[in-house]
Amino acid sequence: MLKAEYRSRGPVPHDVIEAVEFTLEPPTANQVRLEILASPINPSDVLTLTGEYGLLPDLPAVGGNEGVGRVVALGEDVGHLAIGEVVMLPRGSGTWRTHMNAEASGLTPLPSDADPLQLSMLTVNPPTASLLLTEFVELHPGDWVIQNAANSAVGGYVTQLAAARGLKTVNIVRRESAVDGVLELGGDVCLVDGPRLRARVAEATDQAPIRLGIDAVAGTSTSRLASTLAKGSTIVCYGAMSGEPCSVPALSLIFSDITLTGFWLARWFRTASRESQAAMFGEIIRLVSSGQLTAKVAATYDVSEIRSAVEHAASGERAGKVIVVPQHARAAGQRVFG
Ligand SMILES: NC(=O)c1ccc[n+]([C@@H]2O[C@H](COP(=O)([O-])OP(=O)(O)OC[C@H]3O[C@@H](n4cnc5c(N)ncnc54)[C@H](OP(=O)(O)O)[C@@H]3O)[C@@H](O)[C@H]2O)c1
Repeated sequence: MLKAEYRSRGPVPHDVIEAVEFTLEPPTANQVRLEILASPINPSDVLTLTGEYGLLPDLPAVGGNEGVGRVVALGEDVGHLAIGEVVMLPRGSGTWRTHMNAEASGLTPLPSDADPLQLSMLTVNPPTASLLLTEFVELHPGDWVIQNAANSAVGGYVTQLAAARGLKTVNIVRRESAVDGVLELGGDVCLVDGPRLRARVAEATDQAPIRLGIDAVAGTSTSRLASTLAKGSTIVCYGAMSGEPCSVPALSLIFSDITLTGFWLARWFRTASRESQAAMFGEIIRLVSSGQLTAKVAATYDVSEIRSAVEHAASGERAGKVIVVPQHARAAGQRVFG
């Protein structure tokens, strides 16, 4: 058994993590043993390794926040799960590893015939995309929204969910080579960030009012988003990929009544009712397992290759997510993992 462990945090995320061997006790009466199938490396995981994230586990810790696993052993009191069942891993449980024991009551079963790579990414980014579209501005079919980092995983889910809800999207990316992929996912307009963004958006949308701006970049990208919005609009910042403070001209706040606010999924998990969370995941699981909601995958790595995997995930201009897929899952799932 292998796990990707870090004992310190530091500015170079792949320098602080390493694959180490470990052993597990048999599962207790209310636990199951899981073989991990897939677990992505998200920007928040990289920030956790550098010490910049809003929630930092005690050290030593195992990297990884979400993923899917297969039940391979049952504690004697577990009745509602079966050997072979695929489940969503508990959030924040250190998921870059080959095996774990987990309390059975906290595990959500998933369709066993769905793509495990896609299932492994469903806990964080799809609910974020869904909530960004519903929690801040009341939108109706035909309304436009604008977002930057549109070729990110969250951006792709926003584009797909917006299209499914009859909304239109202006998608902003930072490089020309990302445009086609965004349009293929159903984006209505995709533009490269830069000068004259306001005029280019107005031309592409026939001057339609845009009342929601979704910002994962911050820095001056926030001010360019603000320049495209109608009076009384909201910008929701949910990521800081530029590492810069959000910059919005004071006069946009004053004369155009622009509101700048933030979103953190961890806060939603703390405050949303069980029913809201169950409804959210019911819809997301249905859409992801049926292939209606997807994210691109750039590469998969074994747990033993965690340093290369983290280095790849922390780099820009990727073709999609980097996912940790243990060797045993790759061998068992040749068709799915390629
Ligand atoms: N607040 C929350 O609750 C929450 C939840 C989920 C995700 N997030 C945040 O959402 C953001 C996107 O996450 P993800 O998993 O969808 O990301 P991802 O798939 O890894 O994509 C990263 C995106 O950031 C862009 N990017 C990278 N460095 C950049 C820079 N210096 N300036 C501008 N853009 C840059 C990339 O563009 P290129 O392809 O051109 O490099 C790509 O579009 C992250 O900041 C993440 O932390 C927040």
